[in-house]
Amino acid sequence: MYNSRRVVSVLLAGGKSQRFSLNVPKQLFELNGKPIIEYSLYVFETNPLVDEVIVTVNSLFIYEIERICSKFNKVRKVVEGGETRSISSRIGVLSIDEENSYVLIHDSARPFVTHSLIEELLKKVEETGAVIPCVKSLDSLAQIEDGRVVKVLERDKILRVQTPQCFKYEVIYLAYKSTEGTFIDLPDDSSLVIQKNLATVRVIEGDINNIKITTSEDIKIAMSILGTFQVT
Ligand code: CTP
Ligand code: MG
Repeated sequence: MYNSRRVVSVLLAGGKSQRFSLNVPKQLFELNGKPIIEYSLYVFETNPLVDEVIVTVNSLFIYEIERICSKFNKVRKVVEGGETRSISSRIGVLSIDEENSYVLIHDSARPFVTHSLIEELLKKVEETGAVIPCVKSLDSLAQIEDGRVVKVLERDKILRVQTPQCFKYEVIYLAYKSTEGTFIDLPDDSSLVIQKNLATVRVIEGDINNIKITTSEDIKIAMSILGTFQVT
């Protein structure tokens, strides 16, 4: 509970890991003997502010994920996700029972979410109803069209977006409810809130270790974050 609201985490694990080349969905890949999804499940389970977790899964791996989730008391529901991340998020959000809540939407592919990140998000969310963690981009980014650079974006106006993203229930519920029955495929949840003009999205400092596992190369980085991998 936080501010007398229930805290619900929607943990997204419904993807197919198409960019991950290790013949196993990345959320089930064992990092130091533990499936990647278990890292964030453990943090939510042991965080005193989080009340419940709803997990979205791909039907192909539902058995494996349900088995893992059964070890965690706070997992209330395991629901089948959708074709895109946005659709899985919508299914997760629309399956929340408690209206008086804050919602944390998190990629299971980010194993290194921390208690302090969760707490900082919850501290900030009451202001506008939407807050996301971001980190600086160390490189400048180029905007391209047809293989041609049309603009090099200024580094200090660009941030890299992470999860968990935190919303008041009424903000994220209205955002996804308004898309019901339509195909949506956005980069993250805050994009939809901005598109629907439902809240000002605030930013807090993310965590550079809160990386998303996308390709198998990211496993090396994850191992070095775990402190068990010697970078040579
Ligand atoms: N996700 C989901 N449902 C989908 C697609 C993605 O729940 N239809 C989840 C993934 O499981 C992941 C998170 O959203 O934890 C971020 O997505 P991404 O890193 O793109 O994972 P995948 O879609 O599985 O990977 P890829 O795009 O390489 O197939
Ligand atoms: Mg994807």
